[in-house]
Amino acid sequence: MNKRKVTFTVNGERHELVVEPNELLLNVLREKLGLTGTKYACGKGQCGACTVLVNGESFLSCLTLAVAVDGAEIRTIEGVAEPDGTLDPIQEAFLDSSAIQCGFCTPGMVLMGRELLNRNPRATEEEIREQIKGNLCRCTGYFSIVRAIKSCCEK
Ligand code: FES
Ligand code: FES
Repeated sequence: MNKRKVTFTVNGERHELVVEPNELLLNVLREKLGLTGTKYACGKGQCGACTVLVNGESFLSCLTLAVAVDGAEIRTIEGVAEPDGTLDPIQEAFLDSSAIQCGFCTPGMVLMGRELLNRNPRATEEEIREQIKGNLCRCTGYFSIVRAIKSCCEK
């Protein structure tokens, strides 16, 4: 298969890469750019661990071809905090609410929370639960995650 050149921005940094036409965004982020905060779990679109934001919208990077995001602006968990390391309010809220246990689902959950807050900063608990319904967490029982996102909506 003929390789393709793609250009996209990840966390504010422009990248020009040569990829296989069937190469997944998840693998490009983790293996070519070293951004391992984006997690590989089911690989089938069923858990949300690989969630990233593409032009501000949540995408499952395990189901997204790298060539499909040519020209896009991508944000991964590594790009949620400020460049000086100041955490985003949603990250602070996850810490304050003890919404992290093993942490495997956390990057996807934080990005889903961030996407919701950008779109609907006064989201209700129902809307929060709807937003994260595709993101699986085996540890927390979801209560603390919902509480964390809700605390940002109440501010
Ligand atoms: S790894 Fe992508 S949805 Fe599970
Ligand atoms: S904190 Fe372990 S899967 Fe969510």
